[in-house]
Amino acid sequence: MADLKGKKIIITGANSGIGRASAKLAVQQGASVLAVDIDPDAAASADELDGDIAFMQVDVSKEEQVTAMAERCVKTFGGIDGIFANAGIDAGGVPFLEQTAEHWQRILAINTIGVFLCIKHTAPYLTKQAYGSIVCTASVAGLRANAGAASYSASKAGVISIVQTASYHLYGTGVRVNAVCPGLIETSMTQRMFNKLRGLGKEARIGLINPTKRHGQPSEIAEMACFLLSDAASYVNGQAIAIDGGLSASHPWAYPRG
Ligand SMILES: NC(=O)c1ccc[n+]([C@@H]2O[C@H](COP(=O)([O-])OP(=O)(O)OC[C@H]3O[C@@H](n4cnc5c(N)ncnc54)[C@H](O)[C@@H]3O)[C@@H](O)[C@H]2O)c1
Repeated sequence: MADLKGKKIIITGANSGIGRASAKLAVQQGASVLAVDIDPDAAASADELDGDIAFMQVDVSKEEQVTAMAERCVKTFGGIDGIFANAGIDAGGVPFLEQTAEHWQRILAINTIGVFLCIKHTAPYLTKQAYGSIVCTASVAGLRANAGAASYSASKAGVISIVQTASYHLYGTGVRVNAVCPGLIETSMTQRMFNKLRGLGKEARIGLINPTKRHGQPSEIAEMACFLLSDAASYVNGQAIAIDGGLSASHPWAYPRG
């Protein structure tokens, strides 16, 4: 298990799914966590997590709020050692040729620019102390086609590119920057699809196209995020790591049926 004892960590999108599982695991591993979400109900749910945890309502696409988020972590915990820039939104099922510029701007503002802002406003604290880890949530959709709308996939490919370039822009500073690329995980974001397949009695088909033959749980992404935030990952930098049951390892194939 990774060790985050004494680390001061910001986690965005912490009210639900992957962010919430990560906040829970990080406090279990001994971190002080600033749990951040646009959803004001997150304050109540942060209270349910046992440990040194504070909540702040932040929209990661608003620069002044992200600046305040970094300042709050320093004020509350005395510094910042890492951030999990995880908040993101789904693009829905709008057909490709019907997607508007406004649709794209909204997805990019949260999924991509939001990640950039989180790096921009925490990195100065990390570089100053010559120590820190930044982890961002991309997706298998950012690695290959067919795991979401074009706008969503492009927003996540952008996260991977930001992570790769940021690791070099922070060359020699002691700060590492990595991305997690989840496959299909059961969270609020994907719940409708899970409910629909369960309603049709097709639950057993979920996740069959990866060699682990199942979908993933938020806790399985949290394990990787906390590892990357920890000193155990001290030589991992500039990487986009897929946690997808092996989905992205293959060329197209037909899974065995019957
Ligand atoms: N669930 C999956 O299968 C899957 C797969 C690949 C990548 N992801 C990515 O994982 C991340 C977490 O998603 P999840 O599956 O846990 O979904 P989720 O909907 O359960 O959680 C997302 C959280 O982000 C918050 N959020 C949304 N917009 C925000 C904003 N502007 N500022 C701050 N917080 C905001 C939401 O309120 C919510 O609590 C996202 O970036 C998502 O794109 C999810």
